[in-house]
Amino acid sequence: MRNIPPVMRMVWECGPKTVIWSMALRVALALMPVAILEVSRWLINAIVMVRHQHTALPQFFWWIVVLEFALASLAALLSRGVGFCDSLLGDLYLQHISVRVIEHASKLDITAFENPDFYDRLERAKAQATDRIAMIQMVGTLIQLVLTTISLSLLIAKYSPWLLLLLIVGTIPALLGESHFAFLGYAKNFMQTPLRRKMDYLRDLGGSKEAAKELKLFGLRDFLIESFSGMANTIFDQNVDLSKRKLAAGTFLSLLATAGYYSAYALVLWDTIRGRFEIAVLVILTTAILQVSANLQQIFVNASGVADQALFLTDLLGFFAMEPAVRSKPNAIKIPRPIRQGVEFRNVSFAYPGTTRLVLKDFNFRLRPGERVALIGENGQGKTTIVKLITRLYDPTDGQILIDGVDLRDYDMEDLCHEIGVIFQDFMRYEMTARDNIAVGRIEERDRLDRIEAAAQMSLADEVIGRLSGGIEQQLGRRFEGGVDLSGGEWQRMALARAYLRDAQLLILDEPTAALDARSEQEVFQRFAELTKGKMALLISHRFSTVKMTDRIVVLSHGVLTEEGTHEELIRHGGLYAEMFEMQAASYR
Ligand SMILES: Nc1ncnc2c1ncn2[C@@H]1O[C@H](COP(=O)(O)OP(=O)(O)O)[C@@H](O)[C@H]1O
Ligand SMILES: [Mg+2]
Repeated sequence: MRNIPPVMRMVWECGPKTVIWSMALRVALALMPVAILEVSRWLINAIVMVRHQHTALPQFFWWIVVLEFALASLAALLSRGVGFCDSLLGDLYLQHISVRVIEHASKLDITAFENPDFYDRLERAKAQATDRIAMIQMVGTLIQLVLTTISLSLLIAKYSPWLLLLLIVGTIPALLGESHFAFLGYAKNFMQTPLRRKMDYLRDLGGSKEAAKELKLFGLRDFLIESFSGMANTIFDQNVDLSKRKLAAGTFLSLLATAGYYSAYALVLWDTIRGRFEIAVLVILTTAILQVSANLQQIFVNASGVADQALFLTDLLGFFAMEPAVRSKPNAIKIPRPIRQGVEFRNVSFAYPGTTRLVLKDFNFRLRPGERVALIGENGQGKTTIVKLITRLYDPTDGQILIDGVDLRDYDMEDLCHEIGVIFQDFMRYEMTARDNIAVGRIEERDRLDRIEAAAQMSLADEVIGRLSGGIEQQLGRRFEGGVDLSGGEWQRMALARAYLRDAQLLILDEPTAALDARSEQEVFQRFAELTKGKMALLISHRFSTVKMTDRIVVLSHGVLTEEGTHEELIRHGGLYAEMFEMQAASYR
């Protein structure tokens, strides 16, 4: 229940006016049954008088009948209004929560996404964002039910408090039962999450474009289906087990509640026979008892439903409560423009969170303004890690990274991102238009077609775009209708255009040409070398032909800088670089 207030706050935030309307209508609706019963009592009393004491029918008798009709019509109208408000709120809430989930996920550290616990939580939060709309209606209905029940209970208590007590006592076991099962249901779902994630993965894998080739060639279809079915059956069995237990216990408990109702009913009949109650009272009491008894059960079903839903929101709220660890300081400063001393790694050591192995050990490196440096090293030596550190996707475990002598952590994160243009090895292929694929590099300029086209020209993506039937507005990727897929090298040119669109002081390309053929690479790099003249650029590549175009080459091995210099110097030095170069050259001969 602790989760309900924050959720209600979110509901309130997404549409205060609608909430007020919905509540006002519900309060009015809640009081209708009592009002109608009171009118009925008056009518029955009048009839009894006419029949037994032979008095004349009261003048305004038929007007009272009309009044009852008006009340009943009003109730129907109110309930329509409530339905309307609820559907509005549902939509508003869904939108509000979805936006908040996207917003919040983008604020969190990259680290979080590598943590399976976080991933489970995010998955559950995403599901909860869409699944839990029913809760809003349930809370509204609950409030309405409670108000109706209180008003009817007051009516009953006016004639006989014992009756009320009997009704309530009969319903309590049902309440406890319901909440018990709500809890079990949550525990079950919580436990099943890892399994569900695996199933989701298998399902995605089975339907993914990337995997299709291998799945077919390796004949993995049956294996996938079997694994999936095995997991699905486990979940099914657990669900059935709980449902069975709930069925048995629930039936027993609602029988108990029905027994409570009939005892009260018998009591009223008895009191009427003894002459304690008039006929009119008998009629309205039996009606009221029936309604209260039904309402009490409904309240419990609803309350446990709400509790059930609220429990599920633990993850959504927990997700919203997560705070990023890497963030701007309160008085963060802007990156100097231009950067005068460059970027420096000073005794930087780094181990990925949750691991102890140091990927970088006491690493020292300096990138001077206007300098284009190639960073090379074998796979897994920490090259990409260096890029992640410069962009503050992670902070160093030890040591400092400085821009113009000031620690990166003192700079404003947003500004830092602005000044660095990175194309990662595993860059994104957005299932959007060619134009948007480039525009994401500087989304503020999405409307500046001239700049986007210029960037495309710089990265040679314009050649790719020229071949597309839809030109720059061509949808890319295969996911959506009319989309055209590109080759790895073509995608890479699109990604490069993004980096060019950014007016960044430091450009970083992490093995950007792995998918380009030798001639394209030569072209792309020739351009890169020209275009980045006077800018800081860090280039990570395996191809020596491109590496040679930079001003300086540094070699990373086992987390430390082992060699640096120009191509000629390093060849003369005869170290790791010379060896790697010789190996590559030999393979070409
Ligand atoms: N998110 C991560 N968590 C833990 N270890 C990682 C992570 N990313 C990379 N590593 C490890 O850090 C080392 C360096 O990786 P990386 O910087 O990607 O190498 P490179 O780009 O030079 O090929 C590798 O041994 C890799 O296994
Ligand atoms: Mg890498």
